[in-house]
Amino acid sequence: MEPYSTETLLQHLGEEEPFPYGAVAPPIVQTSLFHTRSLRERYETPESMPYHYSRVSNPTLELAERKIAMLEHTEGALCFSAGMGAIASVLLTFTQAGDHVICVDTAYPPTRELLANWLPRYGVETTFVSGETLESFQEALRPNTRLIYLESPSSLVFRLQDLQAVAEWARPKGILTVCDNSWATPLFQNPHALGIDLVVHSASKYLAGHSDLVAGVAAGRRELLTPLQKTRELLGTTLEPFGAWLLIRGLRTLSVRMPRHQASGLRVAQWLAEQPMIAKVHHPGLPQHPQHALARNQMRGYGSLFSFETYPIHKEQAFAFTDTLKLFRFGPSWGGYESLLLGWNIDQPDESGRARWLFRVYIGLEDPEDLIRDLAQGIGHLEAE
Ligand SMILES: Cc1ncc(COP(=O)(O)O)c(C=O)c1O
Repeated sequence: MEPYSTETLLQHLGEEEPFPYGAVAPPIVQTSLFHTRSLRERYETPESMPYHYSRVSNPTLELAERKIAMLEHTEGALCFSAGMGAIASVLLTFTQAGDHVICVDTAYPPTRELLANWLPRYGVETTFVSGETLESFQEALRPNTRLIYLESPSSLVFRLQDLQAVAEWARPKGILTVCDNSWATPLFQNPHALGIDLVVHSASKYLAGHSDLVAGVAAGRRELLTPLQKTRELLGTTLEPFGAWLLIRGLRTLSVRMPRHQASGLRVAQWLAEQPMIAKVHHPGLPQHPQHALARNQMRGYGSLFSFETYPIHKEQAFAFTDTLKLFRFGPSWGGYESLLLGWNIDQPDESGRARWLFRVYIGLEDPEDLIRDLAQGIGHLEAE
């Protein structure tokens, strides 16, 4: 179905044949195993049995995987029980004792924890780098460097890596490159098209899009997906059929949701940047972001997760501000329809008890003007005294 656009393919790809009973929605093939009526059939015509056990694969899962591979412009994709399931499976498949990994120091904290605290148990060491320049990777290179782990833009401060430059430098050295693309989504950034070997996602975020699913994705060339699928089978990190069905349902509206998230996120971020009590807004789509030019170069759009910093304030000021908010909820994760906020001090409080605070903001599908009104009523509490 190549001549069609992404929006059309999201609906039709893999759905050319009618589903049983003429159903429009795909069936949830909610089965653990797949059987034959005779043992003879299993021996004599094994090709008639494409599926055996849903920890290995399942038709509902494969429909989700085809759509994601189309979005990421990769040969294939695999779905996992969580974004961390995808990330852990990738790291365990492509490293072994004695190997060295280079990872961006602002990657999602559990990814960093896995690399810093768990993989050393199996003889894999990691160097964390800023990732803002190619030199930061070059300085960390060792003869045994096997994998470079990127997340662009990265968590909390939304720093970018030049994906094409890193991929071009790593490939001749035989170093595998992996990039977490959860923030931009494949609609706004395709790391594989820039030369990155494997793209991973927390599909719990924008891809599923409704805050009702925990899932992960890895996409890339078939030769890399074959050993990765084996790891998924052995670790049991496979997404189950109902999860895959929820993911397919979420993907149907991705191309409608993302432009809206982008516009609302930028609107709120711009408004925050104009407030005198806000010291800094970290959003790659704002011209004042130090890597805005790179963002424009390698992305086609922006997610709606960003952060802002205050000048030194008392903890009670942060709470007084957040107590006034009616439309924001306070919790982890992001990518659903609802706006969210989290915050913490990024300095040790000084002798007067003041510290700089960082607030992570996620803009959902509400009217951004309502969200700005909500923020405006209490933002005065953040004024440095
Ligand atoms: C950037 C990023 N990558 C990966 C993950 C992990 O995904 P999951 O929670 O689906 O395991 C998250 C989750 O918050 C994330 O924000």
